[in-house]
Amino acid sequence: MLRIGVLVGAKGRGSNLMAILNAIGAGSLSGQVAVVIGSFKGAPALEAAALAGIETVVVGTANRTDDEYGDVLLRAIAKRDVDLVVLAGYMRRLPDVLTTSYAGRIINIHPSLLPAFGGHGMYGRKVHEAVRDAGVSETGCTVHVVDNEYDHGAVVAQRRVHVLPEDSVDDIAARVLGAEHSLLVDVIRDICSGLRPLPLT
Ligand code: GRF
Repeated sequence: MLRIGVLVGAKGRGSNLMAILNAIGAGSLSGQVAVVIGSFKGAPALEAAALAGIETVVVGTANRTDDEYGDVLLRAIAKRDVDLVVLAGYMRRLPDVLTTSYAGRIINIHPSLLPAFGGHGMYGRKVHEAVRDAGVSETGCTVHVVDNEYDHGAVVAQRRVHVLPEDSVDDIAARVLGAEHSLLVDVIRDICSGLRPLPLT
């Protein structure tokens, strides 16, 4: 069974993580979440994982160079024999040692149709504000392979949602988040079943 490591954000709420765990619990996903790693002990996503009986690890960034942080993170992932790393709300650029060692085995979910509304600083509500300000009629989410640039690696899959003229930023965010949960689970299911073989290209 494919072993998945999930990296969550410092203050990540963990809804994508929960979508994965719920799909596994419901028997619609055959992988196993081996570990959830965050950088801040109190992150809701880590607490949710612990409640679900998943091993959690905190790898902080304070007092560590990027290289040191990368080495500790790499060891934490390698020790759990992880086949696939999923970034779910993880905001930082991953240290090079990770993207090199796990090339094609790390995916990220981003709340826009990349390359639109992506890149450094484009996260969370900012993405949806930019979408509304641009006046576009559709947005969506993207699962992409992670390399050493923000929101840059090969697109694995996207899901579109409409944007209505009367939509608030919250309306857009909620619609996209629903699409994220189903897209991320669908992609991981395809990886688990071998339909999308690892490493992804
Ligand atoms: C999601 O919008 C995801 O696309 C982005 O960070 C957010 C994480 O949300 N990378 P959650 O913690 O999974 O609820």
